[in-house]
Amino acid sequence: MTRASVVGVGMTTFGVHDQPLPELFGQAALDAIDDAGVMPGDIDSFYFGNAMGGQTENDTHLAPTLATEIGLAGIEAQRFEDACATSANAFKNAVEAVDAGIHDTVLVGGVERCTPETGKGTGAMTEIFASASHRQYEQPTGLTFPGVFALLTKRHMHDYGTTERQLAHVAVKNHYNGTNNPRAHFGTETTVEAVLDSPIVADPFHLMDCCPFSDGAAAVIVTSDDVADSYDEPVDVTGVGQATGRVPLGLKSDIHATQPARDATATAYEQADTTAEAVDFAEVHDCFTGAEILASEAIGFFEDGDGGPAAEAGRTAADGDRPINPSGGLKAKGHPIGATGVSQIVELTEQLRGDAGARQLDDPTRGLAHNLGGDAATTVISVLEVRG
Ligand code: COA
Repeated sequence: MTRASVVGVGMTTFGVHDQPLPELFGQAALDAIDDAGVMPGDIDSFYFGNAMGGQTENDTHLAPTLATEIGLAGIEAQRFEDACATSANAFKNAVEAVDAGIHDTVLVGGVERCTPETGKGTGAMTEIFASASHRQYEQPTGLTFPGVFALLTKRHMHDYGTTERQLAHVAVKNHYNGTNNPRAHFGTETTVEAVLDSPIVADPFHLMDCCPFSDGAAAVIVTSDDVADSYDEPVDVTGVGQATGRVPLGLKSDIHATQPARDATATAYEQADTTAEAVDFAEVHDCFTGAEILASEAIGFFEDGDGGPAAEAGRTAADGDRPINPSGGLKAKGHPIGATGVSQIVELTEQLRGDAGARQLDDPTRGLAHNLGGDAATTVISVLEVRG
């Protein structure tokens, strides 16, 4: 059943930007408004995501600031914060509000600046990101996010025999996909050997297993089913699920910390009345290569333990039988925290409309977005479909 529809998308390039944050967001938002052909007066509400603006920009009350920047001052506006799952949660809440009949047309978007353009380098940003982990039990131990996902990946390697080479294949595939995405942070290919030869960041992750720090913004226009009827190519949102896991890591209910992803996926599939087999492709949260393998199993694309061999065999490539991250994913497209969730919705929409240019998949009808926040603590899943 259609819960809401996406009728317009906009996105900046992900990478290094020198504009102030409001201008960066304005670019994506105005592109989405233009793509949808809506008049600003038709927009009922603004659902907005930004995770780190307090620490990176000393700017916290951003929703009205950005509404002013894009000429929507006076509109209802709210900010969401859920670490890396920030704007997927804004999207989910917008879909639910539209589905409930509260709004007809909503602007949903996210923005973040994470590169040294904010005046902060790798060390400072790593510390700021770590503020999304447990204040008492994780931060004092020096556990960083590369460390969190390294622990989860090591356990997967121990349990299923997943190898560093299989992880490297994820990076090679996503860098290749990034070369077909003009908005990607990295537009360069890499090789398994180059990944394995790059410096270790947190064992088993080499530098090339990690996503970068990126600046960027993404926005979409979400409308009710009725409003979407007047569009030639609306993309329908048929399922949205969100679940949380216990924090800190030591309290997780499962050793790989994928239960929230499994629960949110089950909710979204039930709403969409679909199964993993009927989903043609996915954008998943590959903040580190191991995270993509864990996600590919949690969303049901592969049995537990099969994600690594599937990546190595090319099954998740754009021309494989289970394409994952045709955009290049966080690894190559980039990861401006608060923009990432909505950027996945942009990719799903463009793929489903047949508008994805050189990275267009072969006629997909249903896609899934998996966006994860914190130490695998929050997962948001969205299922989008071509209107039947
Ligand atoms: N993938 C590929 N190349 C990368 C990269 C990445 N993740 N990060 C940096 N590079 C490249 C840079 O472009 C630069 O290339 P150049 O020398 O040709 O200009 C080179 O590697 C060194 O860049 P630098 O910024 O000095 O690297 P760094 O060692 O300071 O940081 C990481 C590299 C991997 C440690 C950093 O990107 C990181 O911590 N990423 C993870 C971010 C994160 O945790 N996000 C949250 C996830 S939940």
